[in-house]
Amino acid sequence: MPRVLVTRRLPDGGLDPLIDAGHELIEREPDTPLTHDELVALAPTVDAIVCLLTDRVDAQVLAAGAGHLRVVANVAVGYDNIDVAAATKEGIAVCNTPGVLDETTADLTFLLILAASRLASDAEADLRTGRWEGWGINQYLGRDVHGAVLGVVGFGRIGQAVARRATGFGMEVLHHARRDTGIRGYVGELDDLLGIADVVSLHVPLSDVTRHLIGSAELERMKSSAVLVNTARGPVVDEVALADALETGTIFAAGLDVFEAEPVVHPRLLAAPRAVLLPHIGSASLTTRTRMARVAAEGVCAVLAGEPPPNLVG
Ligand code: DGY
Repeated sequence: MPRVLVTRRLPDGGLDPLIDAGHELIEREPDTPLTHDELVALAPTVDAIVCLLTDRVDAQVLAAGAGHLRVVANVAVGYDNIDVAAATKEGIAVCNTPGVLDETTADLTFLLILAASRLASDAEADLRTGRWEGWGINQYLGRDVHGAVLGVVGFGRIGQAVARRATGFGMEVLHHARRDTGIRGYVGELDDLLGIADVVSLHVPLSDVTRHLIGSAELERMKSSAVLVNTARGPVVDEVALADALETGTIFAAGLDVFEAEPVVHPRLLAAPRAVLLPHIGSASLTTRTRMARVAAEGVCAVLAGEPPPNLVG
């Protein structure tokens, strides 16, 4: 019977495809993260691993599993925590969970666009800590979202889902991607988009190309009234540069769901004005997280059945 390591407890029902297929699940009690050494030790003892974006599945883990481990399925659409090249070299398939989290993540992105533009965190913090002394005509003056230009960077499924919402909010939508999308609103140069947009929303995967895609030079190109939103991956933005930009007013506000060194958030970001900060909850609805677990489990089932998984990456 194939053995499937599941690194963390997943939402109820998420592993049903594996159970229905009769695979043995290796789960850990209590539900605590495996250390890297534990992952290396377990890799050669299992046929498949269902992991999370917080598990580092690097060349060492994959080499340890070589010859026995057949598939690693990440319960996430992003897979920068897995060394796909090393997996391919060892003949190990890698799967992710595309498609099922787009709308939920786009909802959360819009929450950040609205909250950051309207200074919701600063205002709520004042209210909760007793600093609010009553209504004032000059208090918490944010930026209107309706009528603003949204610049979507990375125009995959999630970027497009955000764009659909923006249209309903009366925004003008432009987008940038590495290749011409042929879709109305395409802007070929990122710098041009940064100079035009009132809200810049990031939807690119993390890679060597996109690491620190937004640094001090790019922030300088943005309008001083602009809002930056990141629901992609933390390292796409240089956090120190962003903290500088918020402190000096180079940009107006930021909404972040992801951070460079999660779960650590740079202290200067925590202290920065006009920043809405969330703990990587883009896809966090019960329905979506359960679907993500099922899609990962289905990928494992396909590989173990000798079939091509629909969600193979690399
Ligand atoms: C992903 O899937 O990559 C998100 O960051 C978590 O849902």
